Amino acid sequence: MQHYLETTDFDREGLEKLIALSEDMIAQPRKYAKACEGKQLATLFYEPSTRTRLSFTSAMLSLGGSVIGFSDAQSSSVSKGESVADTTRIISEYADIIAMRHYKEGAAVAASMYSGIPVINAGDGAHAHPTQTLTDLLTIHRELGRLDELRIGVCGDLKYGRTVHSLIRAFSAFKSIEFVLISTPSLSLPPHLIEEMRTSSHVRFRVAASIDEAIGDLDVLYMTRVQRERFDDLGEYERVKDAFVLTPALMEKAPQKMIVLHPLPRVNEISGEVDNDQRAAYFRQAGNGKYIRMALIYQLLKNSNREDLRGAVPRLAEEWERGAEQCANEKCVSRSENLPHLWVKVGQRCCCAYCECEKK
Ligand code: NCD
Repeated sequence: MQHYLETTDFDREGLEKLIALSEDMIAQPRKYAKACEGKQLATLFYEPSTRTRLSFTSAMLSLGGSVIGFSDAQSSSVSKGESVADTTRIISEYADIIAMRHYKEGAAVAASMYSGIPVINAGDGAHAHPTQTLTDLLTIHRELGRLDELRIGVCGDLKYGRTVHSLIRAFSAFKSIEFVLISTPSLSLPPHLIEEMRTSSHVRFRVAASIDEAIGDLDVLYMTRVQRERFDDLGEYERVKDAFVLTPALMEKAPQKMIVLHPLPRVNEISGEVDNDQRAAYFRQAGNGKYIRMALIYQLLKNSNREDLRGAVPRLAEEWERGAEQCANEKCVSRSENLPHLWVKVGQRCCCAYCECEKK
């Protein structure tokens, strides 16, 4: 069973195939209008969403399939205390593929262990958001014609912004990439991602304190929203929420070919006056999200056979080890649900198999 839990679940060839398939779907939508006829997508959204959920829905309908699900966990049995594992097992009986968004980190991994159908991670807490990254890759490819040799500024909430986490990972599959990390110290990237870039032969990085300092030689400026909902201390949120704002004055210093991306929603971090600049690609980016999700659903369904779950769960990956110790991350799904404690070796480090937090 192939799930899609993190960007690295596809190698470079897989990512390029998916991008080519999306391009074909954009060019010839009618060719795919019945490609998933008779199939059902379940969208299980435990956290708010506009673009991600609706683009998944629109994607499945454009493939001739249908969609069931919930957009508010309070209206489902989750409000009665049902676990991710049980919900997933039940949905496996009804649908053919699941797209899950959850506020707990590692929730999609947990779901995949109990699912008889493919699970797509549509965002898990502050951890990862791989289908947004697919959208970003398709957009960069369409706008700039390449995914190698890029200098990418990522700006704003690098600590809690899951889209940035998946984006950085994805680029380890491409060549000659430099990330410029633009954030306040309190919003800086989690240490494990810094470590991954340090040991990567394809990705380098440097740090900048302002957009002004970085914008002059970027190919892509990736803006993000400060993730209010992830802060334990709202005073800290108030202090940093307006630290970085992209304005027309700053855009004057940017190269003519640079593009501005943002996963959206935006709050204050891009001034409305930037929207009319040709280099502002974030609305085109949101449009691309539908097509890359069409390609992903099509691809996963093509390769999947429903699995019989009787007596067979949880299904653990070979590289995972059971351990007595629980994960130290309070936001990890394994802390709030009755799941086995699972650990995996990542280089020299031993990490939680759900949320990737390092063992203390
Ligand atoms: C992002 C998310 O949910 O992480 N939005 C999205 O999926 N397009 C970014 C955000 O909420 O700031």
